[in-house]
Amino acid sequence: MIRTDARDVSNPRTQFVCNACGGSAVKWQGQCPHCGAWNALIETRSEGGAARRRATATGAASAVAIGEVTAAEPRRLFTGIEELDRVLGGGLVDGGVVLIGGDPGIGKSTLLLQALAKLAASEAVLYVSGEESAAQVALRAQRLGIEADRLPRLRVLAEIELETVIAAIEAEKPRVVVVDSIQTLFTPALSSAPGSVSQVRECAASLTRLAKRSGAVVVLVGHVTKEGALAGPRVLEHMVDTVLYFEYFEGDTNSAYRLVRAFKNRFGAIHELGVFAMTDRGLRGVSNPSALFLSQQGDGKGGLVPGSCVMVTQEGSRPMLVEIQALVDAAHVPNPRRLCVGVDPQRLAMLLAVLSRHAGVATYDQDVFVNAVGGVRIDEPASDLAVLLAVLSSIRNRPLPRAMVVFGEVGLAGEIRPAARGLERMREAAKIGFSTALIPKANAPRKAFEGLEVIAVETLTEAIGELRLR
Ligand code: TYD
Ligand code: MG
Repeated sequence: MIRTDARDVSNPRTQFVCNACGGSAVKWQGQCPHCGAWNALIETRSEGGAARRRATATGAASAVAIGEVTAAEPRRLFTGIEELDRVLGGGLVDGGVVLIGGDPGIGKSTLLLQALAKLAASEAVLYVSGEESAAQVALRAQRLGIEADRLPRLRVLAEIELETVIAAIEAEKPRVVVVDSIQTLFTPALSSAPGSVSQVRECAASLTRLAKRSGAVVVLVGHVTKEGALAGPRVLEHMVDTVLYFEYFEGDTNSAYRLVRAFKNRFGAIHELGVFAMTDRGLRGVSNPSALFLSQQGDGKGGLVPGSCVMVTQEGSRPMLVEIQALVDAAHVPNPRRLCVGVDPQRLAMLLAVLSRHAGVATYDQDVFVNAVGGVRIDEPASDLAVLLAVLSSIRNRPLPRAMVVFGEVGLAGEIRPAARGLERMREAAKIGFSTALIPKANAPRKAFEGLEVIAVETLTEAIGELRLR
């Protein structure tokens, strides 16, 4: 049962609701008076009893048969920036709300201004800036080479008050609105400061309602790291349709490369990855990012270093080459370590058991470290074979052939299972210049594959034999 403090029936403008039990209080307290949780009270705007009664009386809440609902595929609006459209699942969707999170300075404003400039060629768009003045935005546009004089449909509003922003959107009727950033927006209806959880949540909720009502696309910018360094925007994740995160390539803040990842998407896949390079004229899409994920570290004789294996992974709709590195070393503690970056540690434990049982290579007294180069996260079983071969290559201290790619799932019986879209993976490998592919037998192409020698295997033992890693 949700308990309510008796005093708030007198209709205060705001109330404090407990995140843990849902109980409410009139004023902020460190501890929830109902359930005793600490720091759980969050200020929210109270609709008041009268408003709620009105809503129930007029809201003709009648259910309909699902067949009677017209379910048209949402209309897509391309931003014209291919890498961005890809992570969005094929462009923006009318009435959709997108949250773009990332560290301050990573390039969120830059990318969105570039996207709006492209969109403004055919659509009315609005850039609401709470962080920079209109003049600063215009200066940035100039640096980005945007021909502002030719784009009367790109409108700028420097404003931080929610009600004014909403009024402007209603008056301007843009097809796409960017709010940069949600942390700077505030509504005087709440007494807390801009950027506080309650302000961020209230502003985002109002803008989401506006998007659904008007059909405008609302893009919210949020300064946050994926680890949720700022509490604010994390509460937004469930309110919006799409959440994109901006990351530095390999977490290196000096790198010019940026990754944009879909974290949640009601209108598309979430495994898509956009790759950009920051240049002196803004962000440029990197359409062939495979090269980024290969460490290019050879032994000087045309081979890779021991413990390294290149795999073709499928990131959303795009095949990509990623280097897997493994280091296996004698453990000096009773519980040897298994550390993974970008690869699932549970899966590694399973693979090491398969290696022990079916290849007779035990690692119970070895530390095993596995890393997917470039900070990519690979969560598909098609990486199994590459991980195992990297591990084995490190154990044997023997490098794998340099121009070889690998993919395939490893089963508990030591069998190699097929991966989805094998042909696309092979094509990508050939395109990048790889000459050999070690793949599951079930993925073997019927006729010879141009430029790629295919080694098709059915079991782990066969694969190990082919590579002379016994
Ligand atoms: P910005 O888009 O302002 O970051 P965010 O909105 O995520 O806080 O990016 C600012 C950084 O990008 C800043 O360090 C300068 C750099 N930059 C370029 O390298 N080239 C450019 O063309 C622009 C506009 C910015
Ligand atoms: Mg910015």
